[in-house]
Amino acid sequence: MVSRIAIIILFHVFLSLNSHPAKAQAWIKAGYWYSGSGCLPVSDKNSTLYTHLIYAAADLNSSSYQLSIRSDSFSAFTNTVKRKNQSITTLLFIGGWNTNYSTLSAMAGNSTYRKSFIDDSIKTARHYGFQGLDFSWLTANTSDDMDNMGTLFEEWRAAIALETRNSSLSELILTAVVQYSPTLHSGSYPIDSMRRNLNWIHVLAFDYYIPTWVNSTVASAALYAPGDRDDNTDYGIAAWINAGLPASKLVLGLPFFGYVWKLANPNENSIGAPATGPADRMSYKDINNYSKTNRAADPIYNSTYVVNYVIVGSDWISFDGVDVVRKKVSYAMEKGLLGYVVWEICQDDNWVLSQAGMRMFLNHKMIF
Ligand SMILES: *[C@@H]1O[C@H](CO)[C@@H](O)[C@H](O)[C@H]1NC(C)=O
Ligand SMILES: *[C@@H]1O[C@H](CO)[C@@H](O)[C@H](O)[C@H]1NC(C)=O
Ligand SMILES: *[C@@H]1O[C@H](CO)[C@@H](O)[C@H](O)[C@H]1NC(C)=O
Ligand SMILES: *[C@@H]1O[C@H](CO)[C@@H](O)[C@H](O)[C@H]1NC(C)=O
Ligand SMILES: *[C@@H]1O[C@H](CO)[C@@H](O)[C@H](O)[C@H]1NC(C)=O
Ligand SMILES: *[C@@H]1O[C@H](CO)[C@@H](O)[C@H](O)[C@H]1NC(C)=O
Ligand SMILES: *[C@@H]1O[C@H](CO)[C@@H](O)[C@H](O)[C@H]1NC(C)=O
Ligand SMILES: *[C@@H]1O[C@H](CO)[C@@H](O)[C@H](O)[C@H]1NC(C)=O
Ligand SMILES: *[C@@H]1O[C@H](CO)[C@@H](O)[C@H](O)[C@H]1NC(C)=O
Ligand SMILES: *[C@@H]1O[C@H](CO)[C@@H](O)[C@H](O)[C@H]1NC(C)=O
Repeated sequence: MVSRIAIIILFHVFLSLNSHPAKAQAWIKAGYWYSGSGCLPVSDKNSTLYTHLIYAAADLNSSSYQLSIRSDSFSAFTNTVKRKNQSITTLLFIGGWNTNYSTLSAMAGNSTYRKSFIDDSIKTARHYGFQGLDFSWLTANTSDDMDNMGTLFEEWRAAIALETRNSSLSELILTAVVQYSPTLHSGSYPIDSMRRNLNWIHVLAFDYYIPTWVNSTVASAALYAPGDRDDNTDYGIAAWINAGLPASKLVLGLPFFGYVWKLANPNENSIGAPATGPADRMSYKDINNYSKTNRAADPIYNSTYVVNYVIVGSDWISFDGVDVVRKKVSYAMEKGLLGYVVWEICQDDNWVLSQAGMRMFLNHKMIF
């Protein structure tokens, strides 16, 4: 009798332990919304497609080191999203390719400037209802920059934790946008600080090649590449995990755009065919329209690289279509990643790719 009660108690302890897995984060289906893109951040027909929407972008003021935001759409963003669906989380993206390298480098390298930046970012997020901050310094290119970025994350997390103690709101989320591999530059990303201080990272798993870099057609966001190559997503994800960032902190970036090459000879049009730029970047929406308008044959899906490409006259366009999105979402789930993040949702065509990602996620959930 006694042992039976003990077993029942143990069983309950076991159950309660299991049902509280240290605040595990549910799978993330995130999307960037670029201000000025003109589309609504949430689908009129379906508000279940994304769990997180990220407003892009806030810049940095080069004298005050506070945030600088040019667009009016900014202040209404969270309210607009929440009106559609209260449970979508909104984040504010800071930085990106247009942010001045010297400003970021100076900010990260000086504790006074870091404090201005951190305090203002928290204040701004709270004031406009954002639930988190997403930092991007893709041009960091010295080991000092990388070390300073580590210090920045350390102090940022401490400030966020401190702010939470005085706040009735839940702790702000802190994430970063990173290159597809941790060791692209002379310095390596501050892995240890990232693991301890960031909720997760958004891995930009694309732009391996753009047409100005090579004179042949390539899969610019290949999931795999034959042979022992470093120009693909599978390589980058493995590199992040080997460097010490767990899969459960990695969110896979999906491009909703592609690149256009000019074929040297339209009859020679497989991957690796001779071609030249110029580097035209096209949204998924525009690629569809362009191929339809010109009555191009259906896009080809190459499963070796996991890429779609479509040939329109002498234009050769590499992109992520429905097949690719399905395969990449499936990959992210199989590798135990935390989710996917789309750059950017307004480049979708009538939410086709967004739905494809979501459906793949739902299918997997039923299997596992
Ligand atoms: C709201 O968003 C959440 C998170 O993405 C989703 O699970 C839920 O189904 C959505 N609800 C509605 C009514 O769209
Ligand atoms: C940057 O901050 C300084 C000092 O607060 C301010 O005078 C200036 O107008 C700001 N610049 C921009 C572009 O917002
Ligand atoms: C970046 O900022 C530095 C110093 O604040 C300034 O000298 C430089 O002109 C800026 N560069 C660009 C491209 O705006
Ligand atoms: C940081 O900037 C402040 C204000 O310009 C300056 O007084 C201080 O010396 C700088 N600190 C370092 C370590 O460069
Ligand atoms: C780092 O990148 C910036 C901006 O692209 C550039 O101005 C700077 O010279 C680079 N520094 C090094 C050490 O490569
Ligand atoms: C938190 O509240 C305490 C007491 O009201 C105050 O002294 C402290 O400055 C506040 N801290 C922050 C980070 O707002
Ligand atoms: C591609 O070809 C063009 C024209 O022949 C040439 O100017 C350019 O340097 C080549 N680019 C590369 C990356 O080889
Ligand atoms: C993908 O393209 C490469 C290069 O043209 C080719 O060698 C390979 O066979 C293709 N894969 C499939 C599955 O067609
Ligand atoms: C499709 O492309 C044509 C020709 O460039 C353009 O006139 C039209 O506005 C485009 N349609 C959409 C929906 O983008
Ligand atoms: C919304 O999208 C999900 C995932 O694609 C789908 O299962 C659901 O049926 C859609 N709901 C509506 C109302 O279209």
